Amino acid sequence: MAAPREHWSSRTGFVLAAVGSAVGLGNMWRFSYLTAEYGGAAFVLLYLVITLLVGLPVLLAELAVGRGAQRSPIRALAHFGGRAWMPLGAVFVAAGFLILSYYSVIAGWTVRYALHAVLGFDGDAVGDYFDEIHQGWDAFGFHLLFMGITIGVVAGGVKRGIERTALVLMPVLFALVIGLAVYAATLDGSAGGYAYYLAPDFSALLSRDVLTQASGQAFFSLSLGMGAMMTFASYLERDAHLPNESLVIAFADMGVAFVAGLMVFPMIFALGLADAVIGTAGTERDVGTVGALFVTLPKAFAEMGAAGRFVGTLFFAALLVGALTSALSLLEVVVSAAMDGLGWERGRAAVVMGGAIALLGVPAAWNVAILSVMDGIANNLFLLGGGLGLALYVGWAMKDPVAEVSTGAEGVRWFFLWRWLLRIAVPLVLGFVLLDAVPKTYESVAALFRG
Ligand code: PHE
Repeated sequence: MAAPREHWSSRTGFVLAAVGSAVGLGNMWRFSYLTAEYGGAAFVLLYLVITLLVGLPVLLAELAVGRGAQRSPIRALAHFGGRAWMPLGAVFVAAGFLILSYYSVIAGWTVRYALHAVLGFDGDAVGDYFDEIHQGWDAFGFHLLFMGITIGVVAGGVKRGIERTALVLMPVLFALVIGLAVYAATLDGSAGGYAYYLAPDFSALLSRDVLTQASGQAFFSLSLGMGAMMTFASYLERDAHLPNESLVIAFADMGVAFVAGLMVFPMIFALGLADAVIGTAGTERDVGTVGALFVTLPKAFAEMGAAGRFVGTLFFAALLVGALTSALSLLEVVVSAAMDGLGWERGRAAVVMGGAIALLGVPAAWNVAILSVMDGIANNLFLLGGGLGLALYVGWAMKDPVAEVSTGAEGVRWFFLWRWLLRIAVPLVLGFVLLDAVPKTYESVAALFRG
């Protein structure tokens, strides 16, 4: 007989773990480079709107299913919808595999940079430095190191591993990001950064691609569409107030992304480096968008002199904390499925599944073009598609989602609205986005094979 299901030891523990899942490389690195590429403030606004109208209802749906079923995603979907829905759960678990395998490679670069930042970056050499370390044995080694840490924490359990790590590290992350944003405001010449980041130019929104990217980012950043939030919610007691939790998680996630922009853009503009990253998608200056911040920010830190060593170290420390607490949730999806479905005990599930994910990361560690395509597949197909599947599931297949979500939140009146969003609005938006995203992703895979 399996051990009884673990539960979070406190509400704060759950909230910080879930915020830890949401806040990660997506908020600092991915959010910043997409904003730089797709037109600044207008893109930020679009992302915020999609997070609230599409992301938030899906988040609440994941929390309701997870807490109600008290099972890992595959079984949770079967619990409320019958066995026909199990494949959707399997897609969630596959997404966990895929995302963690390349996410950990980027996290590995971050470990490397955090160590390097202590010694200080050499402004002229940062481009070469990135070229040297982001592919090959170096990248692989640090990817393994990061996976090792992730496996170690997840093997420690929900309470003793994941919750404890989030309780200690998340406050540190908040303090670092806010501190760095305040510091950025003191730099001469930061005004251009604020203007780009905060004054919208709506003509930037005219391309269809922008909507796809903003939706993918909203789902990635909130850890939606692959059962991460569902898995964490499955360790909640029945009395949790889910709408409140979903609001706290969504606003914390948007808040950290927003503040991260307040640190990145002023720094880049103050040091005259804007040209290197702004609007570079598909142009000759396109340094491989994925790497843009890993080259430009260290350059900024180098120009700051002695202060830059300190600031740079703190920045990469924050990035690393975010990456780790997100990686925990990615691995937990896979581990909980193995525990539930195969009857494995936690330690074994963490080591075997984590090891398999580390292997799957090998191509991404050797070739950043592959990493970039994997990121596209994960976001455009898995997360947006998973979100669509989940909205249809909760909107149409699940028997009484409103009763489920009302438990612990009696007296909330707008749940019928939530249900109709899931039934109609969310599927329409995601369906429209997928019409654009699917062929584009297919094209990017084909291009990779053409070489
Ligand atoms: N939300 C995380 C981030 O912003 C990434 C993530 C995606 C984590 C999906 C879990 C599931 O970095």
